[in-house]
Amino acid sequence: METYANYIGGAWVPARSGRTFANENPATGEVLGFFPDSGRDDVAAAANAAAEALPRWRALPAPRRAEILFRAASLIEQRKEELARDLTLEMGKVIAEARGDVQEAIDMTYYMAGEGRRQFGLTTPSEMPHKFAMAIRQPKGVVGLITPWNFPMAIPSWKLMPALVTGNTVVFKPSEYAPLSAFNLVRILIEAGLPPGVLNLVFGRGPEAGEAIVDDPRITFISFTGSNTVGKQVAARAGALGKGVALEMGGKNAVIVLDDADLSLALDSVVWSAFGTSGQRCTAASRVIVQRGVLEEFQARLIARARALRLGPGLDPQTDVGPLINAQQLEKVERYMEIAREEGAGIAVGGARATGGDLDRGYYFQPTVLIDGRPEMRVAREEIFGPVTTIIPVDTLDEAIAVNNSVPFGLSSAIFTRDVNKAFTAIEALSTGLVYINHGTIGAEVHLPFGGTYGTGNGHREAGWAALESYTEWKAVYVDYSGRLQRAQIDRD
Ligand code: UN1
Repeated sequence: METYANYIGGAWVPARSGRTFANENPATGEVLGFFPDSGRDDVAAAANAAAEALPRWRALPAPRRAEILFRAASLIEQRKEELARDLTLEMGKVIAEARGDVQEAIDMTYYMAGEGRRQFGLTTPSEMPHKFAMAIRQPKGVVGLITPWNFPMAIPSWKLMPALVTGNTVVFKPSEYAPLSAFNLVRILIEAGLPPGVLNLVFGRGPEAGEAIVDDPRITFISFTGSNTVGKQVAARAGALGKGVALEMGGKNAVIVLDDADLSLALDSVVWSAFGTSGQRCTAASRVIVQRGVLEEFQARLIARARALRLGPGLDPQTDVGPLINAQQLEKVERYMEIAREEGAGIAVGGARATGGDLDRGYYFQPTVLIDGRPEMRVAREEIFGPVTTIIPVDTLDEAIAVNNSVPFGLSSAIFTRDVNKAFTAIEALSTGLVYINHGTIGAEVHLPFGGTYGTGNGHREAGWAALESYTEWKAVYVDYSGRLQRAQIDRD
C-alpha cells in the first residue's frame, strides 16, 4: 500500500505531524493509499517555498512558462487512460466520464499554454499629446488553490494552468476525497519541468490545511471550488484579512422543456445532465421545468429511463451510474427523500439506496425522479448533489423562466424548444452564468467563461480568457514623452 507525500519546495515530504488519511474507493470501500493529513506547519512551509520561488518564476517570460504547460498537456494526453482509471477508482465516476475529466485537463492545459503568447494587455489613446497609455497584466503573487473531488483532474487544471502561465506561484490543496488525481497531475507538471517551489502540493482537510491556506499572510489570493457553506466561510475569513477570493459554489440547475420541444432529445439530455456523475456536478440538472402540454408523456418516459439505468462500479463498461463519493453524501441524499415526502413531492422512481450484491460495498443511490414539484420546495431550491431531479410543471415560457430564476443559485440552465424567438427570449431572461439551447445543463467547454450568479459565485469566472482576470492584476502604465509637465484633467489647451 503506497503512502504519498506533500510536494514542498521541490521535495516530497510527509506531513510534519506524521499523520495520514486513507483514500478510499467509493465503489468498494477498498483503501487505495495514504496521504499526508497536513496542518498549519506544512502549509506555512509550502507558502514559504512559493514566496521564495516567485521572483524567478514571474521574471521568466510567459512563453517560456508556457512551454512547460505544453509538455505537461502532452504528458497528460499520453497517460490519459491510466489517469482516467485512477480517477474512477478514487472518485467513482464511470470510466467514460473519467476520460472526459482528463480530456478537460488536457484541453485546459493546452489552452492556457497558448496564453503564454497572448495574455493580451491593451493600449488606448492618452488625453495628452505625446503620451502613451497602456495596461498590462501582472501575476497576483502566491495563490492558494482549493479544489473539490467531483472533477479531480479538470478543476485543478482550471486553476493551476492559468495561475502558472500568468506567473503566480501556488499552494494547492486538493480534496481529501480525490488526492491521487492531484498527485498524478502535479507529478506530470514536475516532469514537464516546473522549477522547485513554483507549485506546492499540500494534502489535507478543509478545517486544517484549507483554513491555514486562507490565513497564511504570504498567500494573497484564494480560488475555491466547493460548497456554498464552505465558500462563504472562506470568503468571510479571507475578506477579513483583505485577500481576494474567487468562489465557485454549487447550482440548482434546470432544464426547461417546452411543448414544442424535440422530446426525445430533451429526454436524452435530461438523463445525461441529471444522472451523469451520479448528479455530483455543480452543473447537474436537478430540476426539470416542463410545460403542461408535454408533461404526462415526458414524465412517463423520464421515469422509465431512470428505472433502466444500471448502477455499478465505474470501471465496469456496463455501468451507467457509479457510486456517490462517501457515506455523508449518501446520507445527505437520503435525508432529502424525507424532505421530499414531507413537502408532498412524489417519488416516482428511486428514492433509496441501491443495494444487493456488490452494491452493498459502495455508496450507491438509485436514480430518482421527484414529481409534482413546486418552486418553493426545498428539493427544488437546495443543492442535493446526487442522482435526484425534480419535475416542476408550468404553463408558459414566462413562468418557466421565473421558476428557473427563483433559486438562490445561478450556474447553468437549458431550454428545449424549436422556436427561435422563445430560445432568444430565454437567452435574454435566464439569470445563470451558462445557458444552453437544445442541450443539457452540463458539458461546458474550456475556452468559454465558467461560473454563475447569486449563491454560485462572487463574480469571478474560470476557464477561457476570463480566468486570467482572477490570476492577474492590471497595471496601468503612462509614458509621457513630451518632455514637459502635462497635468491630466487640467492642461487642456
Ligand atoms: C462541476 O460540476 O463542478 O460543464 C464542473 C460541466 C463540466 C464541468 C463541471 N465541464 O459539466
